[in-house]
Amino acid sequence: MTVMFRQLGHAALRAELTGFSQLLTACVEAGASIGFMAPFTLEQAQTFWSGIANKVEAGERLIWAAQDETTGELLGTVQLIIGLPDNQPHRGDVAKLMVSPAARRRGVARLLMQALEAEARSRKLRTLVLDTVTGSPADSLYRQLGWVEAGPVPDYALFPDGTPCSTTFFYRALG
Ligand SMILES: CC(C)(COP(=O)(O)OP(=O)(O)OC[C@H]1O[C@@H](n2cnc3c(N)ncnc32)[C@H](O)[C@@H]1OP(=O)(O)O)[C@@H](O)C(=O)NCCC(=O)NCCS
Repeated sequence: MTVMFRQLGHAALRAELTGFSQLLTACVEAGASIGFMAPFTLEQAQTFWSGIANKVEAGERLIWAAQDETTGELLGTVQLIIGLPDNQPHRGDVAKLMVSPAARRRGVARLLMQALEAEARSRKLRTLVLDTVTGSPADSLYRQLGWVEAGPVPDYALFPDGTPCSTTFFYRALG
């Protein structure tokens, strides 16, 4: 499988709302703690992505897609939040990295994060921040990519089934 990575504008995101919604619901169904509780419907996912498209249009967020070059199927996505307070023009928050359960451990997330970081550097951002479930696959991924642990916060969020989870905050200094 050949994977194509691209940054999407708001119109392209709106055109692919169904694929994004299917990806998000699949990740939540598989147990990812990424902001939503089970049961999580396609309609809820579409509402979420429509809101993100508005933020992309407003210039507050950047979004990337990883797609199967042959079928066009959406395999993964990540966002960079740049619409931060006036005293943080040099910073970005990474959000909603997710890869389809069927496409994991093939380097899709690593390449999405590398594309995001390259764009952050080209925008002269100096500090990136993110948080993720302590001890999760994403926790391992970020460490492998050179992110530095700022620390865990116990009982920060819930898994989709309601089980509490600790969240670890990470940062990356781009220099
Ligand atoms: C976390 C997630 C994005 C990783 O996506 P992925 O495409 O499978 O990750 P990659 O294949 O790029 O993995 C890169 C590295 O991360 C680490 N990693 C990824 N998944 C891992 C796992 N399940 N267990 C341990 N390490 C893992 C490994 O070091 C891996 O390198 P390797 O395969 O050479 O060992 C994916 O599991 C996912 O979508 N999870 C649900 C959503 C989520 O939790 N998102 C994070 C929000 S902060």
